[in-house]
Amino acid sequence: MAAEPKPEILAAFQAAKGFMPVREGLALHAAATEAAALGLPLLEVGTYCGRSTVLLAAAARDAGVTALTVDHHRGSEEQQPGWEYHDPSVVDPEIGLMDTLPTFRRTLHRAGLEDHVVALVGRSPQVAAVWGGQLGFVFIDGGHTDEHANGDYEGWAPKVADGGLLVIHDVFPDPADGGQAPYRVHRRALASGAFTEISVTDSLRVLRRTGTGI
Ligand SMILES: C[S@@+](CC[C@H](N)C(=O)[O-])C[C@H]1O[C@@H](n2cnc3c(N)ncnc32)[C@H](O)[C@@H]1O
Repeated sequence: MAAEPKPEILAAFQAAKGFMPVREGLALHAAATEAAALGLPLLEVGTYCGRSTVLLAAAARDAGVTALTVDHHRGSEEQQPGWEYHDPSVVDPEIGLMDTLPTFRRTLHRAGLEDHVVALVGRSPQVAAVWGGQLGFVFIDGGHTDEHANGDYEGWAPKVADGGLLVIHDVFPDPADGGQAPYRVHRRALASGAFTEISVTDSLRVLRRTGTGI
């Protein structure tokens, strides 16, 4: 049976600001728990306010590994003022730009998980370029344009260890359900021959690294 988060972790996840539905969150936590057994760090692209990070951090803590989470904390295109997912409460009034880092830090503090997470504040391709190690798990939930989704895949997928997991959020085969960039990256990962799909939960796809060739 898939590992379920402890009730206090599920409560912290549900209380956090963010975009991950519960069903997908449970699947994300189960995948992170499985991958953490490899003994390597878990990495997320797209921290936002820490909703999904809570689940990765709990899985990391339980396995004695570290969760890494990457975000420039200035928000994606669709989160900017005037766009569908904008939240004015995460704008820094002094400079007039989004800053989700303080809310993220409060989320982790409230969940009691600060010691299990390293927050990497910067642009995903730039952070990937200086991260030399292997990862047991990579969760892609950053920018949803082709440029950003491909940048995340190219930067981080090659660092997934053999047997590790690559998880992609917001994969919508039907354009009527949502943007297509994560779906195209999902297809690219499968076409590479390096990844095999092992589970589908709504828009969350879990792939295992089973080969080379990225
Ligand atoms: C959809 S939100 C992440 C949602 C989060 N995983 C959750 O569960 O609520 C996407 C995040 O990716 C970040 N982002 C977008 N493009 C990025 C890039 N190129 N580098 C770093 N972060 C990026 C945005 O700042 C935003 O916080």
